[in-house]
Amino acid sequence: MRILFAAAEYAPLVSSGGLGDAIAGLARALVRQGTSVTVAIPRYRSVFEIGSKLTGPGNRYRHVVDGVEVVLIDDPDSFDRDGIYGAGPGASYEDNWLRWARFAMAVADLAEADGYDVVNLHDAHVALAAVRIETPTVFTIHNAAYPILGPLAETNAMLGLPPEAVLPMGSLEWFGEANFMKAGLLYADRVTTVSPGFARQIAHDSEVTGGLDGVIRSLTHPPVGVMNGIDIEAFNPATDTSLPLAYEADTWNRRSESRRALAATTGLDASGVIFGTVGRVTAQKGFDLIDPVLEDLIEEGCRLLVVGNGEQDDLVDSWVDQYPTAVAHRPFDQKLARLTWAGSDAYVMPSRFEPGGLGNIYAMRYGCPPVVRFTGGLADTVVDVDEDPEHGNGIGFRLYESIELAKTLRRAMRLVRSHPDLWQNMAIRGMKTDWGWDRAAIAYLNVYRNVLAEITRKA
Ligand code: GLC
Repeated sequence: MRILFAAAEYAPLVSSGGLGDAIAGLARALVRQGTSVTVAIPRYRSVFEIGSKLTGPGNRYRHVVDGVEVVLIDDPDSFDRDGIYGAGPGASYEDNWLRWARFAMAVADLAEADGYDVVNLHDAHVALAAVRIETPTVFTIHNAAYPILGPLAETNAMLGLPPEAVLPMGSLEWFGEANFMKAGLLYADRVTTVSPGFARQIAHDSEVTGGLDGVIRSLTHPPVGVMNGIDIEAFNPATDTSLPLAYEADTWNRRSESRRALAATTGLDASGVIFGTVGRVTAQKGFDLIDPVLEDLIEEGCRLLVVGNGEQDDLVDSWVDQYPTAVAHRPFDQKLARLTWAGSDAYVMPSRFEPGGLGNIYAMRYGCPPVVRFTGGLADTVVDVDEDPEHGNGIGFRLYESIELAKTLRRAMRLVRSHPDLWQNMAIRGMKTDWGWDRAAIAYLNVYRNVLAEITRKA
């Protein structure tokens, strides 16, 4: 089977968060299953040096990594810029709708020209391609919060849909604008998303879908939820050279070396309980829950390390100003991310919503129990040790309230300090779980086969 992926990110070439990791992890796992995978991404300024120019139409460059063919599509007007989505973390370019519409059209050309069996479009950036592609198409939602809206008439001038599409409630129309995500949902042959929990949620929750839940309910095939994995070879504390001392489940105590190094590089007071978090600093991740309870928690010994940037940087930086030895904020850096999973006492991820959730899985892989809000993929991967002592690998709460987060962080601090054996057992349980991508790759292959069988039946 020959599969074409299209996405805005592909780690480690271009990555701003979980999306790039997920695309690369899934692509490599599909290759391990014997599938051929090509991934189309824009030729951003940061990857100008990569790949060799392909002959033929479309100004494409080709680069092969780990058996995956990456095709970089050149469009300097749109992508010869410093950022992926905007000039800085959390910022957006004003012409994003046009950049992504143009990229989606180039993806559609590639899909039709090169004879793939199935095309898997990832997120709204590439969703418009579904309108133009004849090949069986799967649309995967990694995040429903960024639907991408464009001017209706101009967008349709590129797509050439019949007039009904732009009338109110038409397949492209959304409150007078063109909604790329909506088109992806309606024109793809199947929709998937990155956890079973989020698949259920998007069929009824208008908050996480921006109102598209009605469209999702109208689909003939309900979205399939496949839990994301992580690359367990690239992320392995037993071989990770970013750590001062490697360790495995049986030598979990050696994490203390990473903890020492982490406190030293961040200036955090090591006498407290260190909670780490790595990722985009956006409203999605629940930082506003921390704010009202932070002062009390710090007095009780809570220490917080935030690795990453985003539109809520100012909030986190205000905590650093107030509590310089209790809160640290650093930009994303691969080495520091690994040290955070290896050296923090616990990982914290109180997301408002979470389609997949990767930080929690990386943390568990590194023996760092997560403290999460049970939503989306977090509820699919984290088991509360008090609710299920035999299988517990972390702790969590349900109501999106500061007081609930505070109670849960206190529960974590109590366990870390007063019941270290229990904490270690749950950490080791998380380390021993197979978080790899192979299971997910098999599930995606099933989706692809189902679509192919259906299309052949129709023909
Ligand atoms: C997005 C989602 C995150 C998911 C990732 C990869 O970043 O917010 O939950 O894990 O995509 O699918």
